Amino acid sequence: MVTVHLNGKNYQIDETSSEPLMQQLKTQGVEIVAACNGAGICQTCAFKVISGEFTKKTETEEMNDLPAGQRLSCQCRPLTDAEIELLY
Ligand code: FES
Repeated sequence: MVTVHLNGKNYQIDETSSEPLMQQLKTQGVEIVAACNGAGICQTCAFKVISGEFTKKTETEEMNDLPAGQRLSCQCRPLTDAEIELLY
């Protein structure tokens, strides 16, 4: 397990799970806008990485061409303790 710090709270995330960060945070009650329901096209689940390491970008995520330091929570998960900020 790793800890993700978001909006002043800590969430335990299973870094070995196949479930993306978005799903794991939602399970713990975090509201994340997911207009495309995790398909990787709407970008409403995007977050800014303040610290921490994350899984390598998926092809879908690469196609989104996000600004540096931003990731899609439906397409990745943390590999270390991390701090993030949701964009929407
Ligand atoms: S939920 Fe749409 S891109 Fe992640």
